Amino acid sequence: MTNPTPKRLHVITWGCQMNVYDSARMTDVLAPLGYAPAAGPDDADMVILNTCHIRDRAAEKVFSELGRLRVIKRDREAAGLPTILAVAGCVAQAEGEALLARAPYVDIVLGPQTYHKLPEMVARAARAAGSVIETDFTTVEKFDALPAPATSQGVTGFLTIQEGCDKFCSFCVVPYTRGAETSRPAEAVLAEARQMVALGTREITLLGQNVNAWRHDGWGMGGLVRALAKIPGLLRIRYTTSHPRDMDDDLIAAHADEPKLMPFLHLPVQSGSDRVLKAMNRQHTADDYRALVGRLRDARPDLALSSDFIVGHPGETDADFEATLELVRDIEFAQAFSFKYSPRPGTPAAGAPGQVPEAVKDERLQRLLALLREQQTAFNQRTEGRVERVLVTGPGRRPGQIGGRTPHLLPVHFAGPESLIGTEIGVRIDAATTTSLTGTLEQELACA
Ligand code: SAH
Ligand code: SF4
Ligand code: F3S
Repeated sequence: MTNPTPKRLHVITWGCQMNVYDSARMTDVLAPLGYAPAAGPDDADMVILNTCHIRDRAAEKVFSELGRLRVIKRDREAAGLPTILAVAGCVAQAEGEALLARAPYVDIVLGPQTYHKLPEMVARAARAAGSVIETDFTTVEKFDALPAPATSQGVTGFLTIQEGCDKFCSFCVVPYTRGAETSRPAEAVLAEARQMVALGTREITLLGQNVNAWRHDGWGMGGLVRALAKIPGLLRIRYTTSHPRDMDDDLIAAHADEPKLMPFLHLPVQSGSDRVLKAMNRQHTADDYRALVGRLRDARPDLALSSDFIVGHPGETDADFEATLELVRDIEFAQAFSFKYSPRPGTPAAGAPGQVPEAVKDERLQRLLALLREQQTAFNQRTEGRVERVLVTGPGRRPGQIGGRTPHLLPVHFAGPESLIGTEIGVRIDAATTTSLTGTLEQELACA
């Protein structure tokens, strides 16, 4: 076989970490066709826009970006440089044909479960047979057909083990854009993890829209974490995003007895009001969440919690919102993401009575953010004076500095040699802000 003609690929990624992972896999699947990373869209023979549909005018954002890319494509083609424009991700899945009708200059539209078909779609698009569209749901086939990762994601990397969602929360598009819950086989996950470690990755974050719903052949997440922890050279394991309902005893036990499993958990609760949680179809109460966090903290007392919140879900009253603030005060989060409810076409909440006025959502969001910011700052300040075990991930903010993350995922910057990148070392924390830490390397605690 002759070598393919060298070409350049530019991928623009929006949305969650699963999209980041998918973009890396699309890059891998196109490498055998001769595609290497481009400096930017002007320099690219192919541009992929990997999109997110979760909130606010997602489709409008895509069309405005496509408008910019269309001009680049037109200028390049006028100069005799053919350019393939592809739209991937959750907007591609949700909008499908409508996207092509509005942006006929797009060559390829592909949903999240069709990335393994990308080479064939590129060949079809290159033959100028019009636009190509694939929006099937065949997750298992996709993972079987994707090549092993060829390029390192760096010291920290993502590994998707689970896709899709069967929970159908009232507000959420994910079950419609990503399809039903499916788990990748344990052997495939372990093989990919070994490959990532061989390529230099030291921390793996397992990904899934409901990652802790992962099940395979009688295994649950606890078993998977323990098997991963045996891989030599892998120093840290994390997983995200979890649903409170899928947190089982074995996974909680793994937090107690597996030191490579980091003491930080993103566990979205959305609301602290049982009325709202019911309307959201979350299938747990606020007290279920409190009890679950209690069991997790019994297992791992230094566990830090992060969460997602939605304010202004249809029907949310002042009293409901107060219940959310109360839950936040009870739990004390290290970090959190808060959103104003955004009606998504086709979801049950979008047409529900009791839509909350924008001004009320704004006011609630500000109050929630202020409380969460207070908790986050307090959490970070508790690290001052402590020696934190830091995984060094790369150069720091200033010249001569390197940077990394604590077990609780806090970014730290400190003076040190780049030879430490990829190792865990002790750093004494000198100062904390709401978003990051600075510190001093403790040479005597250095450990490989
Ligand atoms: N599967 C995960 C995360 C899904 S999306 C989970 O169940 O938690 C990430 C976050 O976006 C959600 O946790 C939710 O807080 C937010 N979100 C989803 N749909 C939204 C909407 N319509 N309006 C506002 N926020 C939304
Ligand atoms: Fe969306 Fe709910 Fe599924 Fe999370 S659990 S992806 S919020 S439907
Ligand atoms: Fe967005 Fe799809 Fe992820 S809607 S958050 S890219 S699953």
